[in-house]
Amino acid sequence: MYYPYQITSMQQYQEAYKKSIEDPEGFWGAIAENFFWRKKWDKVLQWNFSEPKTEWFINAKLNITENCIDRHLATMADKPAIIWEPNNPEERTRTVTYARLHKRVCQFAQVLKNNGVKKGDRVCIYMGMVPELAYAVLGCARIGAIHSVVFGGFSAQSIADRLEDANVEYIVTCDGAYRGAKDIPLKSIIDDALIGNKTVKRVIVYTRTRTPISMIKGRDVWWEDEMLYAEEQLEKNGTLDFPAQEMDAEDPLFILYTSGSTGKPKGVVHSSAGYMLWTNYTFVNVFQYKPGDVFFCTADIGWITGHSYIVYGPLSAGATSLMFEGIPTWPDAGRFWDIVDKYKVNTLYTAPTAIRSLMSYGLDPIKGKDLSSLKVLGTVGEPINEEAWHWYDENIGKKKCPIVDTWWQTETGGILISNFAGITPSRPGWATLPMPGVQPLLLNEHGTPANDPEGENIASGNLCMAAPWPGIFRTTYGDHERYKSNYFAAYPGLYFTGDGALKDAEGFYRITGRVDDVLNVSGHRIGTAEVENAINMHAGVVESAVVGFPHDVKGQGIYAYVIMSHKHGDDEQSKKDILQTVTRVIGSIAKPDKIQFVNGLPKTRSGKIMRRILRKIAEGETKNLGDTTTLLDPGVVDEIQQGKL
Ligand code: WT7
Repeated sequence: MYYPYQITSMQQYQEAYKKSIEDPEGFWGAIAENFFWRKKWDKVLQWNFSEPKTEWFINAKLNITENCIDRHLATMADKPAIIWEPNNPEERTRTVTYARLHKRVCQFAQVLKNNGVKKGDRVCIYMGMVPELAYAVLGCARIGAIHSVVFGGFSAQSIADRLEDANVEYIVTCDGAYRGAKDIPLKSIIDDALIGNKTVKRVIVYTRTRTPISMIKGRDVWWEDEMLYAEEQLEKNGTLDFPAQEMDAEDPLFILYTSGSTGKPKGVVHSSAGYMLWTNYTFVNVFQYKPGDVFFCTADIGWITGHSYIVYGPLSAGATSLMFEGIPTWPDAGRFWDIVDKYKVNTLYTAPTAIRSLMSYGLDPIKGKDLSSLKVLGTVGEPINEEAWHWYDENIGKKKCPIVDTWWQTETGGILISNFAGITPSRPGWATLPMPGVQPLLLNEHGTPANDPEGENIASGNLCMAAPWPGIFRTTYGDHERYKSNYFAAYPGLYFTGDGALKDAEGFYRITGRVDDVLNVSGHRIGTAEVENAINMHAGVVESAVVGFPHDVKGQGIYAYVIMSHKHGDDEQSKKDILQTVTRVIGSIAKPDKIQFVNGLPKTRSGKIMRRILRKIAEGETKNLGDTTTLLDPGVVDEIQQGKL
């Protein structure tokens, strides 16, 4: 496998960028020729951001798993597709070749069929980071079912909401999952999520931890039994192949839920063909992947990073993707470096929060670890501070590995702004240049585009996109109005990202962070409204307001101001109860770091909470709180400030 569309110089990047803007259909049409299609397209692109509607490769037919697996079999059957490193370093590792991956995905597609799953059905996958999770994802794609992977850290209530929103009929889970020193009882959480649920017909359970679970007759089946039976069936057919379902280019591939500034998480829907092209193209170019390289993305497949850069991007490129079940700090903080050493990892793609956390352990965990195989380092999820960037560069890359700072979102499917490793310039803290086909625009709050800066000047504004790239999400599941109002209404005719950014005269971008009521905690997106709703479910809470504050490791921490009713005490026990409530309603990732009990919240005369003031107080600002004269009761501000944690 080689990549004729891999860009190898700054000049080529500039030419590709120019071509992609002047003739997007010619540009992406030529790249699409490198994939396997059952039928080619009638037209490359049709779009309209006012509607909004985007379609790529109109009327083309394909199945993404034929591109991720089958087409590699002739030349790479025995090459590792997935290398799996277990949570416990003493446990046996597993190497899944492309031939083995083909067999397992076909078997699992047969399992899905045997259990009644058809094209277009929604399958919720709630599993730990085991190879079977990849088989489940790809098995869904092979049969044309829409997967909705839910991260193992979400609570039963969160799962229940997602099951209902997407009208899910099938679930794939594990008995439990290992994460560091903890066992997470996945199946029992699913059982809780299913109390009162009337749509789920089947739960397929893979055995990982052997933790005791209850299997409900007529609903729950074991993965192992089902796989064995499917294997016998496929063997009877004489081939071990399960024919892939022919999909339209625009058929949905998956749903992934993500938080916004209002309401419940929304189901981001990605397409089949455009998403495939985008994850492949960005994988090959940003990381400058070379056949044979070992690529290690440390994310969980429960997040978009894992979908795009553990599964679909690498596998569609015939790459070797390293999948890690554990966490960076267990059994010790040298875990990543042991893995790099053990498998001679060439590319390491991780999050700034992980780097900052590992930094705090000093250099001892790196001593004696051979990191010389590393060629490229990457970061994603939040702005990287310069201290962490230099630490990564000096101690991990030994100043020899380019660092790619990749900016993107669940909605964008893959990377939109990043340098190309060793090809285009890097600059600490800057995501730098847009991918070909990506047209960023910075706008002020009145909707006026910022002028391109000259000389030393730097422009700033809200980051928008003027045109679609192949990987843009197509809708929010079951609610296209929400797609429109959330993303295409703030600046008519443009996609609004929710981020603020800077741009310099060279055209480099620096992302400054969210400008909406969304927090970025350890690279995970959490809506303040969602956390408030969870806190407010506690019986003793009258009202709450949640804001972010700078946190050394997490990037942002969660600060909650809470008013308790008179009957309930504002003591340590109440704090613990509130944390427990949030854990129950959302999951432990949304637990506030600080809870301050207050008697009132700063509100405007119309009753709107002035978050700007609360944010400043949480950030430790003492003087410049801005204009407080429009407040209903300016006195509460002093009181809150005195009680600051
Ligand atoms: C938000 C998207 C993309 C996969 C992981 C997060 C922030 C992401 C960067 C970066 C600065 C970044 C943005 C974005 N973000 N990457 N390299 N530099 N900020 O996906 O949960 O959809 O969150 O993460 O604020 O909007 P997500």
